[in-house]
Amino acid sequence: MLKIENLNVGYGEVQVLWDINLEINKSEVIALVGSNGAGKSTLLYTISGLLQPMSGSIKLDGREISGLPADEILHLGIGQVPQGRRLFAGMTVKENIMMGAYLRKDTERVKEDFEFVLSLFPQMGERLNQVAGSLSGGEQQMCAVARGLMANPKLLLIDELSLGLAPIIVENIYEAVSQVIQRDMTVLIVEQDVLLALEQADRAYVLDVGHITISGDAKELMDNPTIKEAYLGV
Ligand SMILES: Nc1ncnc2c1ncn2[C@@H]1O[C@H](COP(=O)(O)OP(=O)(O)OP(=O)(O)O)[C@@H](O)[C@H]1O
Ligand SMILES: [Mg+2]
Repeated sequence: MLKIENLNVGYGEVQVLWDINLEINKSEVIALVGSNGAGKSTLLYTISGLLQPMSGSIKLDGREISGLPADEILHLGIGQVPQGRRLFAGMTVKENIMMGAYLRKDTERVKEDFEFVLSLFPQMGERLNQVAGSLSGGEQQMCAVARGLMANPKLLLIDELSLGLAPIIVENIYEAVSQVIQRDMTVLIVEQDVLLALEQADRAYVLDVGHITISGDAKELMDNPTIKEAYLGV
């Protein structure tokens, strides 16, 4: 579904990603893990068109998308749940969630998807008229994932799903994500919690200071000595 080849990205003159190659097949859950500052968010911003690469190629279903504006990439089916959630604090939960569907014209499907999203996150249904800024951290993350889902993307990019959240909330959100995958969505998850990411994913890529150093089957990577030592603390 998504194929990234020889991608180089930077901010101004400062290069942050070097020669990235990464592939996502339909209905796969892919984890992208790595330490702070490795370039994970930078890669997601580049996929979603918020950053232009220096060179290289990003293809969605065979079509070159690098260089396209972000709203066009969203329209083609790549949605994002950004790091830090980026909700509109003064707007209600419902308004925030519906913001995800702003490009869609299939009103009936939007209504159905809204009901589906509320079935995934019943807590949101109870708080539709509450302003997003007054939600707890876990609720904000649910609201952000719900908004991402409302775009009905083929591929959903989620940046730092678990950061700062209690394990029970994280489990809750991952449970929702797994239901989404059964609905034919494909997910790329960025996680700092490497063990959690490997447990959830089919395959994983390790980003180390701008380079992909390790990739492969997620369960096999749990036994990889380098990963064990550098990221799992064993
Ligand atoms: N707007 C920017 N201008 C210049 N440099 C930037 C900018 N945004 C990020 N960087 C740099 O790019 C590098 C990668 O940052 P990025 O946010 O992609 O890392 P990350 O892997 O997402 O880290 P974290 O786990 O902390 O979120 C860092 O060295 C960062 O300082
Ligand atoms: Mg980041």
